[in-house]
Formats: sequence, structure tokens, C-alpha cells
Amino acid sequence: MPELLLRHIAQIATPEGKAAHHGAAMKKLKIYLNAAVFIRDGRIAAVGPDAVISSAVLQKNPNVKIVEAAGKCVIPGFVDPHTHFLFGGARVEEFVNRLEGVPYLELLQRGGGICSTMEATREASADELYEKGKSILQQMLHLGVTTVEGKSGYGLDLKNECKLLQVMQKLEKSQPVSLVTTYLGAHAVPPEYECRSDDYVDFMLDEVLPVIQQYNLAEFVDVFCETGVFTVRQAERILQAAARRGFGLKLHADEMNSTGGGGLAAGLGAVSADHLLAVSEDDIQALAQSKTVAVLLPATAFCMRKSYAPARRMIDTGCAIALASDFNPGSCYTYSVPLILALAVIAMHMTMEEALTAMTLNAAAAIGRAKSCGSIEPGKQADLLILKEPDYRHLVYGTGLNLVEQVIKGGEFLW
Ligand code: NIG
Ligand code: FE
Repeated sequence: MPELLLRHIAQIATPEGKAAHHGAAMKKLKIYLNAAVFIRDGRIAAVGPDAVISSAVLQKNPNVKIVEAAGKCVIPGFVDPHTHFLFGGARVEEFVNRLEGVPYLELLQRGGGICSTMEATREASADELYEKGKSILQQMLHLGVTTVEGKSGYGLDLKNECKLLQVMQKLEKSQPVSLVTTYLGAHAVPPEYECRSDDYVDFMLDEVLPVIQQYNLAEFVDVFCETGVFTVRQAERILQAAARRGFGLKLHADEMNSTGGGGLAAGLGAVSADHLLAVSEDDIQALAQSKTVAVLLPATAFCMRKSYAPARRMIDTGCAIALASDFNPGSCYTYSVPLILALAVIAMHMTMEEALTAMTLNAAAAIGRAKSCGSIEPGKQADLLILKEPDYRHLVYGTGLNLVEQVIKGGEFLW
């Protein structure tokens, strides 16, 4: 892989560190003006003022490939740490029903919602899912997303949950976006276990989790902890069993109702607690005092016409916030980073600096990747975005616009 010197960059804007930033630290960005980045073996070898970096690199290696980036801002590749991007079918009818006022949980209780995607996903072949997933990841890459977390949860039986996770692992090897996989068997109770949710939990723990562990199909285990779906007690049981088997933990927590999911995730040392629209004050405190990253999903709240998670309150209390899309066929059929950033800043009152940290370093921390990506620092993967504008603040000023001009993934230009 050729060495690469990005020169005369108008501005580099990046958080720094190998762990999530909490509270006030989230708004601290390192800004370099007229800067350079030197990339070797797919990693960042040096970053700093152009005068310093370029002369040192050119002295040792006069033939290094040079890319001029005058007038451009360079930021870390975005990380999307919460998606359900792999599924069969679509649910446009349900979207229309919800616009007409039918609640999300009512559609699920009627056997629709997640269970209707489950049927379409069980019917889809691995090849069909692979092609669909590949095209979605390619579009995410055009929006600057270089690392994505993907959850299962639309198979709900052993065969189809494994099918989803195996397709994701094949995608990880065959296209540029890095993928991290999560087993979300506890996404809904499938029809074969109707009214027997504890039996379904037994099935997951006794028959599915051992297979996922044996074949190394997922790094994390997640649960949809919500009124009428899985209780806090069931979520705790599943996550404790997962922890004993060495999985990292995640939790869909306090999305529609305040059930104590945020506090449970913090107490179990989960890597993340996600959604949190209805998080209680006690659970905000618990999250602030833990290492658990609070992953907020503003596009879901927007699409569901719900109030946003209390991001400002959470940051001011000392939580580490990440942002993610939650892309899925039901509650949020978008992976638009420009939309997420706009909602985070304009609607949720995060600062632009906090939002950038939340979509890069803190998002990487929410999937256990803060040591290898999420910032522009020596030793990290060379996952960089060259923006069309000279200043990162254009990311929100250009509301809803895609400002990504070039994506560099692992040191390679993607187009
Ligand atoms: O994160 N809340 C649960 N899971 C998804 C929705 C999945 C679906 O409706 O298909 C979410 O919003
Ligand atoms: Fe989700």
C-alpha cells in the first residue's frame, strides 16, 4: 500500500483519545490549520502543521504520493454504532399507519412491526440479503460512514439469526466499510413463542447463544427492553448469560417507556445503552458515573414524532454521548448522517463540537473500537473524510447536505 501525504489541508478537526469523552470533554476538539496527515500501511503515521509534517516526510521519502487538500476540512470517518441494516422487505404501509396515529408498539402487538420484517427476512436468501446489504453500505460510505455496527434480530430462530450474522461477516470481508456484529435475538417474541416470552429467552440462552459463541458470529449481545417486549428482568438475565460467555453488552433502553434500562446497562458494565428518549433522572446519573456510552438516535425520535432524548441534560451531567442512525425498516428508515447531525445540534441543542465527537470517537467507543478509529491520531486506522468546505462547522450549517467529497478508508481513496 503506497504511503500518502495529504498536504495543505485548510483545517483538521478531530477529537483525541482512545476512550469515550464524557460531559464537558465532548466539546474539546483538536484543530489544526494548514495541516498535513501522513499515512503509512493504512494507518495514520503523523498529523500536524503542514510545515512540520511535510518537510520531515519529504526528506525521508521524496517520492511519497502527495494529495493536495487546500480549501478542505478533514475529519475522522463517521462511525454508525447502532443499525439494523440487514433485513428483507420494507414496511411503507406501517409508516403510513403510524403517520395516521397508530402507535408503534400497537402494530408490534398486532403481529406486525418487527415480526412482519421477520417473515420477509426468513424468506430472503443469504445472497439476496448480501446484495441488499452491500448496496446500503455503499450508500452509507458516500455519506462518510467508515464503520458500522449491524444487529441481527429479524430472523428470531437459530437458522435465520445465524444467516443474518453470517451475511454481515461476509460483507465485512468483501467491501470497504468495517462491520461490527451484534446478536439481537431478543428483538421481539416470534409467533412460535407467542405468550411464552420466558420460553423464548430459554431458547436463546440454551440453543442460540452457544452457537453464536462457537462460530464467533457476534461480538455483542443486545436486548429490546421495553414495555410489552422484554422486561428489565429478562434483559438482565440475557445480558448476564451473554457476559458469562464473553460477549460485550448493549441495550435498547428506555425508548418508549422509562423502565430502568439505562440504569441496568450502566450497572452491568454494558458498552452502550441506546435510545433513552424516556430515561429517568436516576438513570442519567447512573450512566454519567459509568463507562457505558449513551447512544442517542435522533432520527428515530424524528420519524416517530417523539420527544428527543435529553442530550443537553445528559452531557451537562457528565454522560458520554454517541450518535447513531438506528437505520431499520420500522421506526427509522434512514441512515442520513447529515440529518442526524442537524437534529443533534438544532433540535437537541448539542454543540457542533459535541456532535462531531459523538459521531466519531464516542461512536467508536460505543462498539469497543475507540483504540483503533474515531479520531485522527498516530496509530489509528487512516479512516478520513475530505469535506467540500474548509471548516467542520459547515457540517450543520449546510443543514441536511452531504459535504463529503472524498472518503479515505484504511489509507485508500475510495473514489
Ligand atoms: O431500534 N426498537 C427496536 N428496534 C428498532 C426498530 C425495529 C423495527 O421496527 O423493525 C429500533 O427502533
Ligand atoms: Fe435499534
